[in-house]
Amino acid sequence: MAGMMLRVSSVHKSFSEPVLTDISLHLKEREVLGLVGPNGCGKTTLLRIMAGLETPDRGDVKVMGKVGIVFQEDRLLPWKTLWENIALGLKYRGLRGEELIGKVKEYSEMVGLSKSDLALHPRKASGGTRRKAALARALVLEPEILLLDEPFTGLDVKARISLREALRLIWSEYELSTVIVSHQLEELLLLTGRVYVLTPKPARIAEEISVEGMDLKSRLDRVKEALYHILSRTPGSEEPLS
Ligand SMILES: Nc1ncnc2c1ncn2[C@@H]1O[C@H](COP(=O)(O)OP(=O)(O)O)[C@@H](O)[C@H]1O
Ligand SMILES: [Mg+2]
Repeated sequence: MAGMMLRVSSVHKSFSEPVLTDISLHLKEREVLGLVGPNGCGKTTLLRIMAGLETPDRGDVKVMGKVGIVFQEDRLLPWKTLWENIALGLKYRGLRGEELIGKVKEYSEMVGLSKSDLALHPRKASGGTRRKAALARALVLEPEILLLDEPFTGLDVKARISLREALRLIWSEYELSTVIVSHQLEELLLLTGRVYVLTPKPARIAEEISVEGMDLKSRLDRVKEALYHILSRTPGSEEPLS
């Protein structure tokens, strides 16, 4: 289908118990799509299925492009510098010398990492710097579909703003379609035009909300209302978003 980058159709997934039930959604070309849902409902599982890291029990996932995923834990190798972490995937692909250096430089600059940041080992870098390195490590492989799992979680305000600006720059420079999972509603709604709200586990799509053209307050009100509805229908889930 034209203009479509990813399509999830009637996906079901269980581990010891059902986690995802009948999930259908789509991601359009160059869209920034949000996924919102209570803690433990299955958002990471859904992203892993989209990335092909997990197989659905039923249903089907179609991706029309190369997928890159950034996990909530940055998963950087502690014994390597940020530069080496970003370069690793390209080295595996056989890139060497100037070409390797050029690519790492391009994407590191794009996410706002300085030369001195790149020389750090992960434990010496701030949370925001590590998150940017994880983002650069995914981008350097030049995905067409970018999946971000809780990109703002654990970052302070300054780091969140800085990461948001980096993402906006990336979207203006590259042809990327993006899915963001976040329980930080404000950050998410500042970036996305359309949001799927998931129910508590087992996750179903409760609502698809277009927030395009709305100001931040209206966006927040609209999505909070949807969450309030699904949570008030679910006894025992008084911890809405964590
Ligand atoms: N590999 C796995 N094996 C068993 N259970 C899993 C596995 N991955 C996730 N789960 C379970 O699936 C549910 C949803 O997890 P997850 O997708 O991480 O939720 P979320 O990202 O929305 O917090 C949780 O109950 C979790 O324990
Ligand atoms: Mg998760």
